[in-house]
Amino acid sequence: MASATLAEGLPIGLPTETVYGLAADATNPAAITRIYETKGRPRFNPLICHMSDLAMAERYAIFDPISRKLAEAFWPGPLTLVLPLRPESDIHPLATAGLDTIGIRVPQGFAGDLIRAFGRPLAAPSANTSGKISATSADHVHDDLGERISLILDAGASIVGVESTIVKVEDGEMRLLRPGGLAAEEIERVAGQPLRRKNGASPAIEAPGMLASHYAPGAAVRLDATTILPGEALIRFGRPDIAGVENAAMVLDLSPSGDLSEAAANLFDFMKRADGSGAATIAFSSIPDEGLGEAINDRLRRAAAPRE
Ligand code: TXA
Ligand code: MG
Repeated sequence: MASATLAEGLPIGLPTETVYGLAADATNPAAITRIYETKGRPRFNPLICHMSDLAMAERYAIFDPISRKLAEAFWPGPLTLVLPLRPESDIHPLATAGLDTIGIRVPQGFAGDLIRAFGRPLAAPSANTSGKISATSADHVHDDLGERISLILDAGASIVGVESTIVKVEDGEMRLLRPGGLAAEEIERVAGQPLRRKNGASPAIEAPGMLASHYAPGAAVRLDATTILPGEALIRFGRPDIAGVENAAMVLDLSPSGDLSEAAANLFDFMKRADGSGAATIAFSSIPDEGLGEAINDRLRRAAAPRE
């Protein structure tokens, strides 16, 4: 059923361990065009191509030794590698936005099996309207894009809950293009070298998910809250000391025990629930900037950024 829909060039809602994807045949221009149209996504923003395993990925990209080591350690899993594209490959340039690089990831579980059965890579951005909160359940996909997609596969809630970590190796150095569901510390441990963070604005868009305003709920977002104002929704982490909790319209705990993996898994669902409460502002208590906290704080900063 899913393979037949993909073969017709239609995008499907695809569960992965990070978030739900809007997946289509990465070699079919009509199919990829439908992804951009369905999400309202700008076409200069390249899509991640999902592969069944490292062997498939090697047919599409050229691996340096560090990237291969990371792939062997973390695939299948929440890591995307940006690599030089093999020019002879049949990936359509619409999927890579015409770049000479390709973002590749091997997802865990069902998605990997489907790609193996389908036999071709699947281009899949997160299954949400461009700029909005990513989907971590089939219901989220249905609520956001339901009328525009013919098939949504349901494998329950995504276990990781934030998008993949994106890494690019250049001149033997690892650069973090997007913090995500694989902690930077784990990547550094396997590679035995630091993962460089970008500092300052770069002239070209490198990983456009890195644009300032993104992951935006309807409500305003306030970070590092220590006092709650009447009517705000509160999303907290650990056991923070926050004044005025009794004033909150809604209180959600990302992880009462202070577990960052649990917090990541709950993040987008809680943002949607708080948004749905009708509160004009969602206040977050502070979250440590280590492990998956780096990805959580990245998403929260973008959710709180000024909107166009
Ligand atoms: O976990 C994930 O990565 C999810 C699931 C569905 O796999 N996908 C996802 O896709 O988050 P999307 O389209 O929402 O984010 C893809 C990011 C964008 O920021 C894009 O700019 C970057 O990957 N990207 C893709 N190809 C790239 C390339 N060749 N060079 C630099 N950045 C690239
Ligand atoms: Mg996205």
